[in-house]
Amino acid sequence: MTSLIDTLRHLVGAPHVLAEGDLSAYEMDWRKRIQGKALCVVRPGNTEQVAAVVKACAAAGASIVPQGGNTGLVVGSIPDDSGRQVLLSLQRMNAVRAVDGENLTITVESGCVLQNLQQAAEQAGYLFPLSLGSEGSCTIGGNLSTNAGGTQVVRYGNTRELCLGLEVVTAQGDIMQGLTGLRKDNTGYDLRDLFIGSEGTLGIITAATMKLFPLPAASLTAWAAVPSMRDAVTLLGLAHQHLGAGLTGFEVMGQFALSLVDKHYPQLRVPLFKETPWCVLLENADSESEEHARTRFEALMETAFEQGCVTDAVVAESLTQARNLWHIRESITLAQAEEGLNIKHDISLPVSAIPAFVEATDAELMREIPGVRLVDFGHLGDGNLHYNVQAPEGGDTRVFLETQEERVNHIVYQNVRRFHGSISAEHGVGSMKVDSLPSYKDPTALALMATLKRALDPHNTLNPGRVVRV
Ligand code: FAD
Ligand code: MLT
Ligand code: ZN
Repeated sequence: MTSLIDTLRHLVGAPHVLAEGDLSAYEMDWRKRIQGKALCVVRPGNTEQVAAVVKACAAAGASIVPQGGNTGLVVGSIPDDSGRQVLLSLQRMNAVRAVDGENLTITVESGCVLQNLQQAAEQAGYLFPLSLGSEGSCTIGGNLSTNAGGTQVVRYGNTRELCLGLEVVTAQGDIMQGLTGLRKDNTGYDLRDLFIGSEGTLGIITAATMKLFPLPAASLTAWAAVPSMRDAVTLLGLAHQHLGAGLTGFEVMGQFALSLVDKHYPQLRVPLFKETPWCVLLENADSESEEHARTRFEALMETAFEQGCVTDAVVAESLTQARNLWHIRESITLAQAEEGLNIKHDISLPVSAIPAFVEATDAELMREIPGVRLVDFGHLGDGNLHYNVQAPEGGDTRVFLETQEERVNHIVYQNVRRFHGSISAEHGVGSMKVDSLPSYKDPTALALMATLKRALDPHNTLNPGRVVRV
């Protein structure tokens, strides 16, 4: 294996192959639950180097774990503990290659940090709408590989819907040149969509052509207190009716989740949460004038108060206030991390089934594990809940995880199945859910996934043991 490290040094330059020292930034997962050990970390600077690295690793029989910002939440971007896998970091490949205003597209390398991509679009006078709490560190390659969701899906879709073309290095080290900006191209199987969401198991994304949108002329943000999850769903229905395509974000947050933000970041001043079990953050972004947008927004809130699905609300009066409200929402994950580990879920359900799911699952968990605390929040507009489960007050978090994780997952996933949902909405499968998938995914679909993996990566070089076992 030493000779592979030498070969890699020769291919990408010695400073870009790290084999000693503290590599925990690459080897430990974001939640700090699992630490792997890589043979080395290799940081190629261009697509040809990625292809050469893949060929060298394949020839040496070493498997590769691709990594972007290492913010993934399903343990898919770190090496196992064998010390034999090559960690391939795309971080040096971060250039914006081109902006085409008339075609409304931007072409970037996969290591481009999402926030830098958003800023490049804005500087050119356009919107790139993908938005996640991790946007300061995650990369567009990671977003594509996980088909990330985030807070604007209700209007713009997941990362998949934002992508037009991909450049990919295959498991054989060939370069698939698919960087098209075409909105129509029916020339065969959709290979782009096969690579999107494949979590580095079928190919390495090196660049992408993404869609741009006009910047909205007006944007309004409100924070509402709602008495129940059923009321939150009613409010969502009203928001669709009143705002139409202007509705860009609809997030729900439970009282305990917000109390953690209040506890760990009191300076953020979380509004309304003390008097209500649920809060909703909603956003309307429009091409119409501010005045027109505000009139529609006010009509929505008036109807919601009349119907009793909103009991109190704060409407942001400035961009700064709106940003602060979003900052509170996006701090929930960090506040949870400050509080200690909990059992995380990222589930999707038909929106109409969410109130019944929450009622049934809350009750079952409370019955089985008295005192358990639920850190619930999520992208209600897309039917995506982060239905997280925390140890009872004063309980030992580690012991709780060790003794209850399997049981809690079983209860939650059985209810997800009962209400026709999915056990992974936006974070992916990684190694965390790979062994649960066979119990919850259609067996024919899973078998086809394994067939595709074997066909595209017959020697299991790319991210083995993630998504599907072969
Ligand atoms: P990594 O974590 O480095 O990798 C993720 C997966 O993609 C791994 O399997 C890896 O092997 C593969 N991969 C990475 N780059 C490539 C590439 N170029 N080619 C092939 N495979 C590759 N996710 C959401 O969907 N919605 C959210 O709202 C959201 N909010 C978050 C908030 C916080 C605070 C945090 C920490 C995470 C959040 N996430 C969210 C999860 C995470 O940020 C996303 O999954 C993100 O898309 C991962 O990007 P990354 O560059 O960090 O990828
Ligand atoms: C979010 O919506 O904030 C994320 O998906 C992260 C999380 O689930 O903690
Ligand atoms: Zn999320």
